[in-house]
Amino acid sequence: MKQQGLLDHRPHGGMADPDFVRAVSTGLRQQPKSIPCRFFYDTAGSRLFDRICDLPEYYPTRTELALLAAHADQFASLIGPGAEVVEFGAGSGDKVRLLLDALDQPAIYRPIDISGEFLLSSAQRLARDYHDLSVRPVIADFTQPIPLPAARPGTRRVGFFPGSTIGNFAPAQATRFLRGAARLLRGGGLLIGVDLVKDREVLRRAYDDAQGVTAAFNRNVLVRANEELGADFDLDRFAHRALFNEAHSRIEMHLVSQVAQIVRIGEQEFSFADGETIHTENSYKYTVGDFRRLAASAGFTPLHVWTDIDRLFSLHWLEA
Ligand code: TRP
Repeated sequence: MKQQGLLDHRPHGGMADPDFVRAVSTGLRQQPKSIPCRFFYDTAGSRLFDRICDLPEYYPTRTELALLAAHADQFASLIGPGAEVVEFGAGSGDKVRLLLDALDQPAIYRPIDISGEFLLSSAQRLARDYHDLSVRPVIADFTQPIPLPAARPGTRRVGFFPGSTIGNFAPAQATRFLRGAARLLRGGGLLIGVDLVKDREVLRRAYDDAQGVTAAFNRNVLVRANEELGADFDLDRFAHRALFNEAHSRIEMHLVSQVAQIVRIGEQEFSFADGETIHTENSYKYTVGDFRRLAASAGFTPLHVWTDIDRLFSLHWLEA
């Protein structure tokens, strides 16, 4: 897997990531089986994810971008001049650019991401285009408490959390994240994108597109296990499945074993019954009211909410 001339700066120096080893073998011993979704995003996974965002069935990205563009003036007046913008997760930069362009002389931009390489390259691109902005990337896991210096007196610190990434947290985790954010952003607020409950087939298709890009994204975790852990997953024997779990109000993504089979990872063996699934991801869907209640229970004051005319997606301004 090593490319010539490519230096591998990962702490494990190109060896199997011990966290991945542990997570896969623990997850596959559980009943039901699962693999945590953080392992989706290697380079191939991140590229597949970018393609998901452009799919006709995947409405969240374009709907959120349209909301950000349409209400720019209001963000500027709610947030005020000279703000410090903290982004949870470093996206492609498209979304935060809409926000930065809308604001009156934003002073500081702090993108927080666990993936250092990705973070630094997108931060560099931003710094190149926004000369008056101080870009200060933070390599950290934003699901854990992050110590930041106090905001400058007279400037507001505002959080930006687009993409309905909050939906990939279980409600208890989401509450914990929001509590931490409310503390970090006190005196300012949080602009957050949240996908909405809707027709279940519309939801399901967003996670099971006709071209099979989401299926490839889901299966990529098995590709990684084969390449990095020496596993022998037969990719043709695991089907992608997305379903809307009404009781939990979440899309679930699974990989479904198409036959009874045994998969080997090094010395370990994992047996799968015909039809047994590996649960790989959840994407919770909220009503506007439910999300505002969740935010309030975590210490925010929900003020504004913007939705598109079809009520597919919501943007919330929560004051901290
Ligand atoms: N948070 C977004 C969502 O839940 C993006 C996302 C995360 C996603 N993991 C995914 C999209 C897996 C498709 C498949 O929609």
